[in-house]
Amino acid sequence: MTTQDDKKRAAAQAAMQFVKADTIVGVGTGSTVNYFIDALAEKQDLIKGAVSSSEASTQRLKNHGIEVFDLNEVGSFDIYVDGADEITEHKHMIKGGGAALTREKIVAAVAKTFICIIDDTKQVPILGKFPLPIEVIPLARSYVAREIVKLGGDPMYRQGVVTDNGNVIIDVFNLDILNPPELETTINQIVGVVCNGIFAHRGADIVITGTDNGAQISQ
Ligand code: 5RP
Repeated sequence: MTTQDDKKRAAAQAAMQFVKADTIVGVGTGSTVNYFIDALAEKQDLIKGAVSSSEASTQRLKNHGIEVFDLNEVGSFDIYVDGADEITEHKHMIKGGGAALTREKIVAAVAKTFICIIDDTKQVPILGKFPLPIEVIPLARSYVAREIVKLGGDPMYRQGVVTDNGNVIIDVFNLDILNPPELETTINQIVGVVCNGIFAHRGADIVITGTDNGAQISQ
């Protein structure tokens, strides 16, 4: 039987074919990306190093001996490899289940190509069943939650979580996200919101899905 972890691993290993020699690789966050980091470690002599989207990924990269560059020190780079919590056929995503959404969105913005690695449970017709994470300045938590209610969502404070940027996370339940780019913009305009987990304006370019029949690539 192919488990969800087998599928994540298959997608992560398939992403290695897009890693070019002597380049810096953008690295996301999460359990699927951890398989990618482990695969990258086996070919680490091939690459210059990585830019990372979280303290957790930075630590894992460094534990493998992979050099991690500050994003401000590198110009553009070719690929950013990251997972997703949900993804549609339009390659719009919800991300941030691991609370790393802001840095993920920044690193993704700089990369030329966003490669999303998922198992097939992440494919959805409409975004929103997975609660939408929003990173918020702590002082603005209640205000942002009230504004989200006006948009029709049910906000819930993610207890005990502080992001790598020192902020908090609100998860929004019960949204049917019919127009992801529009809602991404609307939520960004609420004062106190640092970033929301809709990745639509900068969606994925390539999606690698782990399935019962191995990794399938869509570009
Ligand atoms: C972290 C993320 C992850 O990419 C997303 O949560 C998927 O994680 P996993 O690969 O563990 O299922 O956005 O902020």
